[in-house]
Amino acid sequence: KIFKGSTDASEFVAQEIAALIKNRQQEGRTCVLGLATGSTPTRVYAELVRMHKQEGLSFKHVYTFNLDEYYPMAPDSLQSYVRFMNEHLFNHIDIPKNQIHIPDGTLPKEKVSEFCKNYEKKIDELGGIDIQVLGIGRTGHIGFNEPGSTEKSFTRLVTLDQVTRIDAASDFFGEENVPRKAITMGVGSILKAKRVIMMAWGEGKARVIKKAIEGPITDQIPSSFLQKHDNCLVVLDDAASSEL
Ligand code: GLP
Repeated sequence: KIFKGSTDASEFVAQEIAALIKNRQQEGRTCVLGLATGSTPTRVYAELVRMHKQEGLSFKHVYTFNLDEYYPMAPDSLQSYVRFMNEHLFNHIDIPKNQIHIPDGTLPKEKVSEFCKNYEKKIDELGGIDIQVLGIGRTGHIGFNEPGSTEKSFTRLVTLDQVTRIDAASDFFGEENVPRKAITMGVGSILKAKRVIMMAWGEGKARVIKKAIEGPITDQIPSSFLQKHDNCLVVLDDAASSEL
């Protein structure tokens, strides 16, 4: 779905999420959202906050699972995804804190793999992710699933690609400060979601969007595995769609 600009596109995505939340609320059921960080989803979150404040959209029955977090990472660091989510969404809505899940960047190394297994288990126990929101990195990554991530990959500790670390350098005031690792949900975890909405804005994403959507399905472009998902919507602005 192609929009002229990212504002309209973001409002559309927020409406989709709000519709799910409201439907589930009417049915008296919970819903599970898979959430992303980065600059791409910020307007979606701003719109959800607006709907909460102005239209009474309630998140009391919503569970969230974030895709990823740098490792190691303290939650109160400037670059932490915990902090990002609190500032852009969670601090402004009525979601109970114990319904929020974000990979833990503070764990000692020997506890990481157990944490990752539990992350997957919690998602499964809640009935799976209803809508997974995604951005896309220049390497074709989704979450932090860098080239080489297979469709059978699940939540785990990964090594970040050089390109991703360069892209994050300004957030960390220099590439040398960007963590080398991250905890991310896998391509397999993402493919299990009932619905996936991937977003991309701006001409900087046009090349990788073409590869992800029209190129061969390959672990060299992990987002290309989304071609196998039977309920995946890609939402673009004009510029991001310019190479299609
Ligand atoms: C990071 C995140 C991804 C995100 C990507 C793109 O690498 N881990 O989940 O999709 O950045 O970021 P942006 O939306 O700022 O372009």
